[in-house]
Amino acid sequence: MIIAIGNDHAGVEMKQQIAAYLREMGHEVINTGNDDPADRGDDYPVYGYRVGRLVADGKAERGICICGTGVGISLAANKIPGIRACVCSEPYTAQLSARHNRTNVLCFGARVVGIELAKMIVKEWLEARFEGERHQRRIDMITEIEKTGRLASED
Ligand code: RB5
Repeated sequence: MIIAIGNDHAGVEMKQQIAAYLREMGHEVINTGNDDPADRGDDYPVYGYRVGRLVADGKAERGICICGTGVGISLAANKIPGIRACVCSEPYTAQLSARHNRTNVLCFGARVVGIELAKMIVKEWLEARFEGERHQRRIDMITEIEKTGRLASED
């Protein structure tokens, strides 16, 4: 799988370790993140945008975003149409987000989770398969809100 990865200064070391882990698993990694932890003036929306753009454009199948908490970078990625990004601090939510919500970008906080937990989160997320059916209907509703700002069934 081709996986885009991005991070701000808070996630440099975590990104490097997760990128190595992904390569060990046989994935191709596109690194769009900061590699200089001293560059503390960088802005997480840039990296959320880059990762989301690569996934939305079909240049990567999935994306992984890392900042201090995972929150800011996920907000940025989620502004791109077609992106379903979630912040996960444990593997159960990561797995269910892929099975039910068809998340295509996984985010977590380098200041929140340790590297071994982060690896478990990534593994569960990548191995889970979308279950379709009623979950697709709900994703279609999210897409409707994304495209129109409205949900016709509520208007
Ligand atoms: C940077 O200090 C920090 O605000 C950022 O990494 C992230 O946690 C934002 O959500």
